[in-house]
Amino acid sequence: MISPLLISTAAYVSTLAAGIIAAVIVAVTACYLQTKKFKVTEVFADRSAKAKKTLKKRKKDTHTSDAEPSYGGTPYCRIGHLSDLHFPMVSVNLGDVIYRIASEDCDALAITGDLCQNAKGKPAMLDFMRTLSDALEGLPILVVLGNHDCTHVCGKDPKKIAEYVKEVESCGRNIKVLRDETVKIRLKGTDASILAAGLDELCIGDDKKHKKAVSEAAAEASENDKLLILMHNPDLMEVVKDEISGCGKYSVTLAGHTHGGQVYMPFNFEFNVLRDDRMPRKGYVYGLYEYCENNKLYINCGLGQSCLPLRLGTAPEIAFVCF
Ligand SMILES: [Fe+2]
Repeated sequence: MISPLLISTAAYVSTLAAGIIAAVIVAVTACYLQTKKFKVTEVFADRSAKAKKTLKKRKKDTHTSDAEPSYGGTPYCRIGHLSDLHFPMVSVNLGDVIYRIASEDCDALAITGDLCQNAKGKPAMLDFMRTLSDALEGLPILVVLGNHDCTHVCGKDPKKIAEYVKEVESCGRNIKVLRDETVKIRLKGTDASILAAGLDELCIGDDKKHKKAVSEAAAEASENDKLLILMHNPDLMEVVKDEISGCGKYSVTLAGHTHGGQVYMPFNFEFNVLRDDRMPRKGYVYGLYEYCENNKLYINCGLGQSCLPLRLGTAPEIAFVCF
């Protein structure tokens, strides 16, 4: 005969187990749903509040007139920023992403790496880039490679990486993949330009080339020009910080890679224990920072996911950076 105590214990254990399973299902579903909706972040990386005022004026100009906007001779730029799309592990509505970027007033769009999670994602990524290029109608799209692009898609093979770069650039004449290179983009309505240096990925790159690219962009930038540095892994800041802070010009760096932690863990557990990236261990995980003199660093938490199709506390992001 089974004792009543045993029956009540078994009932308690099974109720507890059912409760735990239900809680896990709810938590996983909530984390999964967070991958589907992107947030839009306005980042004012200028040292003064003037950028905010200029942005308001630019929006007004854009929405009320077809004429080239005039900024009263004050050059400010606004850069759309995407990162870490990780095709095929991207769950947001990509049509909405493209529509949102196309409806904003930007001088360029920067994509800071990890377009693909792996080779399976390449066809969908190329489709996305073609549609994006068409929708942005000539707006410069500046891309740098991420560790997944170089390693998981191309196996760190220089020939495969070069072929991958060609495929991405063939999606539109306004797309340029920067590999320790600089481009100059004229700012609408002003005589100033953006000097953008895009750095090659840390895992395949050469420190000398990274430093040279930053120095060349800084040397070419006149007083009114905007100095923009693009990198995937923010650890590259440690490589080029002397060139950035020593050039005497204010600059903004855009980076990705961290996914803002993707799934929140207390005490920065992911970076302190599970990964060996250096900057996140120092606390540079997501947002706007002043890592070195004369520079603001913005780390975007990305649009797609890596490893698991889950996010917690870090929604997919489109950022607009004004400086
Ligand atoms: Fe990534």
